[in-house]
Amino acid sequence: MEIKILDTQKIDEEVANLFIETINNKPNCILGLATGSSPLGVYALLVKACKENKVSFKQVKTFNLDEYVGLDGNHNQSYRYFMNHNLFDHIDIDKNNTRVPSGLNMTNETAKQYDKEIEKAGGIDLQILGIGSNGHIAFNEPGTPLDSLTHIVTLDESTRKDNARFFNSIDEVPTHAVSMGLASIMKAKKIVLIATGPKKAKAIKALVEGDVTSSLPVSVLKNHPDATIYVDFEAASLLNK
Ligand code: F6R
Repeated sequence: MEIKILDTQKIDEEVANLFIETINNKPNCILGLATGSSPLGVYALLVKACKENKVSFKQVKTFNLDEYVGLDGNHNQSYRYFMNHNLFDHIDIDKNNTRVPSGLNMTNETAKQYDKEIEKAGGIDLQILGIGSNGHIAFNEPGTPLDSLTHIVTLDESTRKDNARFFNSIDEVPTHAVSMGLASIMKAKKIVLIATGPKKAKAIKALVEGDVTSSLPVSVLKNHPDATIYVDFEAASLLNK
């Protein structure tokens, strides 16, 4: 696992360039995508690059990490809505090639099909991640087994509080989500994680200075052969210099 400490703009540029290179080298590549604030700058740069004909998503397939249970894809806080609004509606991708796990009628049994679909497509070439203030990746909260596949999760109170900013009140934040598991994520050939802002500093310190443990889900990335953690100066502020 490599750590790169850069300013936020540079992080977005480096990660967007990595996506563009990956797609240009393999036009039918499989991308693993995340929602939340962390990838927004990268998505904006990808939209710009597509409009300038520097990259085309015509043959690209995407799989998103997670979705809230109970929210239909048209709900403005669903992750399907987020992806359409922030990326898919503005690039030349075929929406039939974009997958976000369904938040409706999902069981642990049907959730496993998601891993099979990814495998059938050839596996994820490049996965982008954010990190929760409690060290979660996707919605794998502390305590999630390291060998977990896609499954239904109960969201931590801290995660619901963090995400309440997107809803009218915390009561509206769903209590459950469907999420790719830690083992599902680890199958990606290459992983990049973006951690920005002071709220991520404690988790980044624990990641850099601690061992691999299910109490800090992000720490599993230490076992990945090609994972890079992009940290801005605020998120890196608790690291020993
Ligand atoms: C989103 C996801 C989450 C977020 C994390 C950080 O699909 O899987 O793990 O990446 O909660 O969220 P932001 O980026 O909003 O700080």
